[in-house]
Parts: sequence; C-alpha cells; structure tokens
Amino acid sequence: LEAESKSIAAQFDYSDGDVNKAVKEFLRQLDEGLQKDGTSLSQIPTYVTGVPNGTEKGLYMAVDLGGTNFRVCSIQLNGDTTFNLTFSKVAIPKELMVAKTAQELFAFLAKQIELFLKEHHEDHFEQHVRRRMTISSPDGFRDEHVFRLGFTFSFPVQQIGINKGTLIRWTKGFDIPDAIGKDVCALLQEEIDKLHLPVKVAALVNDTVGTLMARSYSSPGKTGTVLGAIFGTGTNGAYVEKLSNLKKSLSGEFDKSTGEMVINTEWGSFDNQLSVLPSTPWDVALDKASTNPGIQMYEKRVSGMFLGEILRLVIVDLLKNKDVAFFKDENSSSNDWKSTTNIVADSSIYKQWGLDTAIMSVAAADGTPELSTLRGELENQLGVHAAGLDDAQAFKSIAFAIGRRAARLSAVAIAAIVLQTGKLTDPANQDEPIDIGVDGSLVEHYPYFRDMIYEALAIIDGIGPEGAKRIRIGIAKDGSGVGAALIALVAAGMEKSMS
Ligand code: BG6
Ligand code: GLC
Repeated sequence: LEAESKSIAAQFDYSDGDVNKAVKEFLRQLDEGLQKDGTSLSQIPTYVTGVPNGTEKGLYMAVDLGGTNFRVCSIQLNGDTTFNLTFSKVAIPKELMVAKTAQELFAFLAKQIELFLKEHHEDHFEQHVRRRMTISSPDGFRDEHVFRLGFTFSFPVQQIGINKGTLIRWTKGFDIPDAIGKDVCALLQEEIDKLHLPVKVAALVNDTVGTLMARSYSSPGKTGTVLGAIFGTGTNGAYVEKLSNLKKSLSGEFDKSTGEMVINTEWGSFDNQLSVLPSTPWDVALDKASTNPGIQMYEKRVSGMFLGEILRLVIVDLLKNKDVAFFKDENSSSNDWKSTTNIVADSSIYKQWGLDTAIMSVAAADGTPELSTLRGELENQLGVHAAGLDDAQAFKSIAFAIGRRAARLSAVAIAAIVLQTGKLTDPANQDEPIDIGVDGSLVEHYPYFRDMIYEALAIIDGIGPEGAKRIRIGIAKDGSGVGAALIALVAAGMEKSMS
C-alpha cells in the first residue's frame, strides 16, 4: 500500500520547472484576453475604475450567490476603514442549482431578501409599506427608504453597465440553461418587485471584485490592493489593469480619469486547452462526468468543489484494486469489489461528489502518530468499519499531494498577476508590500495552503525569495458582501450625478 500510495502521490507532483512554465503561459493567455473576446481567460472588464480608500460611508444591502451559501447582508460603512455587517445565510437547495427556469432560482433569492428585511430591518420595511400605501410614487427608486443593493453573482457575466450583465456560462455545478444570455440583475429585480420589497439592485459584482474592493477599504496601503482572489468552491481573481493594456472594445460609459480598470480574469478557465496544466487519469475522469466538460480546467484542479472529488476517484480506484490492501475486509473473498471493502455498501464514497473536501483539511491537520481524528472522521463520514492506521496514512498522503498541487497551481495565477502589474520592480514602490486579498473556504481552512503558495512563489522567475516576502496575502473575510456594498455606493453616486 505504501508503495502504491507514494506512486499515486507522485503523479500529483508539480515541479518548479512546471510552475515557471505555467506562469509564462498564464501571462500569455492574460494578454490574449485583453486583446479580444472568446479567449480561454475571459478578462472581463468590470467598469469599476477605482478602488476605495476607507473613507466611504452609508448603509447598503448585499446579496451573494455562488459560494457555499446564499447570503443576504446589510452593511454599515463607517468611513474609518471599519464596517458593521448583519447577515443571514442559507445553503442553496441542490434542485434549484439545476432548476428548469431561472425564475425559480431568483424567486427563492427574493424570498430570502424579504425574510432578512423582516428580521433585521423591520422599521425600514414597515415605513416603506406605509409609504407605499399613502404615496403613489411612480419612481420608487428616489425613495430614501429604498435600499441600494449590491448583487454579488459569482459566475462569468458579460458586464454591460454597473447594474447590468448577461450570464456567459454557469460554473461550479449550476446548470440552468434558460438563464444564459439573460441580464441577471433584471431577473433578480423582477422577483424583488413581485414581493414589493424596498430594494433596488444597484450594482452587479463578481465575488473576486468584491474581495478586491473590501480589502482595499479595510487595509488601504500606499500601493493599494492589486488582486482580489477566491480559493473556495471555485477559484478566480480580479485585478487592477492599466486601461492602455486593455485593447478589446468597451461598450459601456465609464470614468477614464484613473487610467485603470478592474478586470475579472475568470481564471478558472485558464488553459482549458491543457497546454501546461497537469492531467492525471482522475482529472480526466472528473472532467468527463462534470456538467461542463472541457471548461474551467484550472478550477477543476484547484478549488474546493473539485479536490474532494479527485481524491474520491483515486480512493475508489484503490478500493477496486484487489492487489492493494486499502480499506479491505480481510475475510471477504467476494468477486464484487464493493463487498471486499470494509466500508458500508451505501457509503457516499461510491457516489459522485460524495467526499467532502473538508476531510482533506482534517487529514492535513491531524499530526497525531495514530491519526486518530482522521480515522474517526473516516468512520463517521464514510462508514468505514474500522479505519486502520495504514489506510489513514495512505489517505492522508494522497490528499496532501492533491492539496499541494492545488496550492502550487494557485501560486501560478498569483505570480502572473503580480508580474503583470509590474509593482515588484516599480522604483516608486520600493520595499512596499504587494497586497492581495483572498477569501474562500480552501484558503481559510486548508492548513498550510498559504505556506505552500509562498513556497512556490519563492521559486518563480521574476519573484524569487525576496519578492515572495513582499507579497502580502491577507484574508478579506466576508469580503464580497462589503465589496458589493462599496460598489453599490459608487453606483448611487453615479445615479445622483446623472439626475
Ligand atoms: C464568501 C464570499 O466569504 O466566500 C463569497 O462572501 C465567496 O462571495 C465565498 O463566493 C467563496 O468561498 P466558498 O468557500 O463559500 O466558495
Ligand atoms: C467560478 C466563477 C467565478 C467566481 C469563482 C469563485 O470560477 O466562474 O465567477 O469568481 O468561481 O467563486
């Protein structure tokens, strides 16, 4: 078993040479996406042309769809880099992720907004209802009691304006074909209006853009935050690009005075053609069985939704291999491979997505010689009858190899963006930290994930150990809610200046 698990783990090695080659290719695809549409890295212009500085103020709402949970929040920005956040969260029912019509999903979201308002902003809500009954206001949006809402919608969207954008494709297991090409803000506003809620969808935001904004608000530095990145259910990054590098045509109106624009890279689809990404038989199997084969190939090797599934596929192959003593029932002589294991027949390990990636964190964190925590989890979660030490060790080392490859691949994207911004070599920027805001369950909970990213950054040409030390990767917890509020604030300003 030890030899077999070592040989499997070795298939997930991603050498220093591979990392460097991938950074070069990332930079090439990044540039290609700035030149034209339809490329692997979508490089979506967001029309956000500045980042906050911590002095912004006001009460806003935000909703957030696309991570583990759907969240509704209200955010009081205090104008002194701090904020107060009230939120509720609910897991998206699985059947809505693949609903027949987009309307079903958006009606559910509007309902959650209604529940949130009733629970946390009863006064606001009541006042609005009273006003609606006494004043017939054809233009409800001028009503001071209408909340401006930032909509964090973490999927690839062709942004047409600050609160308008059409869905390009679903990712992360969502699949509602009816929504493709539609304006997701209008879909949400329609359902909000059906419930007569005092809410205007004022801004459309990707979670990475929200993370970038939130990090800039709460830790403003001399050089600003250069990248907002998510390593959670999915992975993606948004960064500040010079307008002069953005060659493809821009449709919307925007303020050109900063000379910059935030770009949503949609790096989950980096190298869909697999010219530099690693590919094991398990990566291939995962992709084939997914809702979107051939798409999001980088994300499928990096993010939380997929790492557990890669591991599960490896485990199932080992269980099928009668020559390897891995979770095997020594007394069984059955011909049916499932009956030769010491795992219950209806274990989730046999089902697609049946292994929660969180168990990889348990494995990495368990430093006890007996691996007792991990063995307990294997028994509870997967229905292993009695998890042996050898079995748990093999599980741990394979899981670690998959996690380490993901961290090294994450370093590729981070390094490429840092190099693209030129901040490391900018003489005006000497010794200043290069600030990066991150969020998501993987970077937050997977032990040593950031350490492994730093280790890889240090071997990248153009960064090296000194450059890696200057790169500051900080968690922007709940970033996208605050970020969406900040963009709703910018949008409200635009509304005023246009009226
Ligand atoms: C949350 C953000 O904190 O992290 C979401 O508010 C983001 O916008 C999410 O999508 C990503 O993490 P996960 O692990 O929930 O996908
Ligand atoms: C997926 C989405 C992207 C999002 C990321 C992180 O890659 O396509 O828009 O930012 O997940 O949630």
